[in-house]
Amino acid sequence: MKVRDKEFKVFISEAELAEATRRVAERISADYAGRVPLLCPVLTGSFVFASDLVRRLTVETEVAFVKYTSYEGMASTGRVTAQLPFPAKVAGRDVIVVEDIVDTGFSMEYMLGELRRLNPRSVRVCALFFKPSSFGGSFKVDYVGREIGNEFIVGYGLDYDQRGRGLKEVYVVE
Ligand code: IMP
Ligand code: MG
Repeated sequence: MKVRDKEFKVFISEAELAEATRRVAERISADYAGRVPLLCPVLTGSFVFASDLVRRLTVETEVAFVKYTSYEGMASTGRVTAQLPFPAKVAGRDVIVVEDIVDTGFSMEYMLGELRRLNPRSVRVCALFFKPSSFGGSFKVDYVGREIGNEFIVGYGLDYDQRGRGLKEVYVVE
């Protein structure tokens, strides 16, 4: 299967994605029983995962999308810009930030800093994929669908140069 100039092969099937999502949804539903968490999916990559996750939760939720873009700076620090920031209504709420993948954790670290300044009641992080070997963040990824190695993946919301987000399975470069 080709996305732009690269060949990809199936890495994680639809059934495995559904199972990972189901397990995460079960844990969140148990942990937040009796509460109404505010889900903040991070655009663009998490829109597919978030739409499946929210339909599997047995607790009521509210949803507020956010979008932060990271740029590679000249120094190793990089820079993150808010395209669609956390809304003021996170104040006093139990917030769950929903990501497609946490890699270095750099963008999430920045987002969590912004989020905490708005005084939410609690903050947890949920990521469908987590790359522990490249992670350098100081936060905990509370809900992980699946840990992977350093491979580059596309599909189920994740892109390669903006393409491949609509693929039903997750693919890895051949
Ligand atoms: P981090 O700041 O290094 O954790 O990067 C997180 C962002 O990088 C994710 O939200 C993705 O948009 C992107 N990313 C990291 N790894 C992959 C991958 O394997 N495939 C597609 N996008 C990725
Ligand atoms: Mg992303």
